[in-house]
Amino acid sequence: MKKIILATSNNHKLKEMRSILSGYEVLSLKDIGFSAEIDETGNTTEENSEIKARAVYEYCKGKGLDYCVIADDAGLFIESLNGEPGVHSARYAADHGEEQNRQKVLSKLDGIENRKAYFECAICYVYKDEVKHFIGRTYGEITKEKIGSDTFGYDCLFFSDDLQKTFGQASEEEKNAVSHRGRAAVKFKNWLDENA
Ligand code: IMP
Repeated sequence: MKKIILATSNNHKLKEMRSILSGYEVLSLKDIGFSAEIDETGNTTEENSEIKARAVYEYCKGKGLDYCVIADDAGLFIESLNGEPGVHSARYAADHGEEQNRQKVLSKLDGIENRKAYFECAICYVYKDEVKHFIGRTYGEITKEKIGSDTFGYDCLFFSDDLQKTFGQASEEEKNAVSHRGRAAVKFKNWLDENA
């Protein structure tokens, strides 16, 4: 069984991916000693996930490590803001932080009726000459104020069509079952089960 490197240093993502990919050995960047910053210069989540996966795969090759690599990239896409904040979700309000990102979204949507939005997550798999993309989306609406926990990103502003509450009000299990990341990860797992 191939070892899979998840190109992240985020422990929460690692834990989530390990639970979805049960049966596979999922290692982190820390496990392989990778600490370089990767510039996410892509215009789509697909491009950014591929940039990260390729960079880490090249590093592995250079160290003689025969591992496959996956990387993910995500963002919030708001219809009436022409897809903003999109791939800029993490730094929508420059480097001011998540609260400022949320306030920017709320103020840009002030007075706007159409609040439809979706989260998108792209997972890119790289091994030898093979590059594969898996996309997950989840749909909802941006609320007019924060509802629920504001510990992660735009969770407390995203009223999920599936859950009929915000991601900030949902348990981890509820969110993972319908989230963009969960959906992309399940698509990847299904492909891996058939191809690994
Ligand atoms: P990343 O590429 O997964 O790190 O996501 C980039 C940014 O998108 C994060 O910093 C958050 O601001 C936002 N984001 C991505 N996924 C979620 C989510 O599930 N809930 C809330 N915000 C998210």
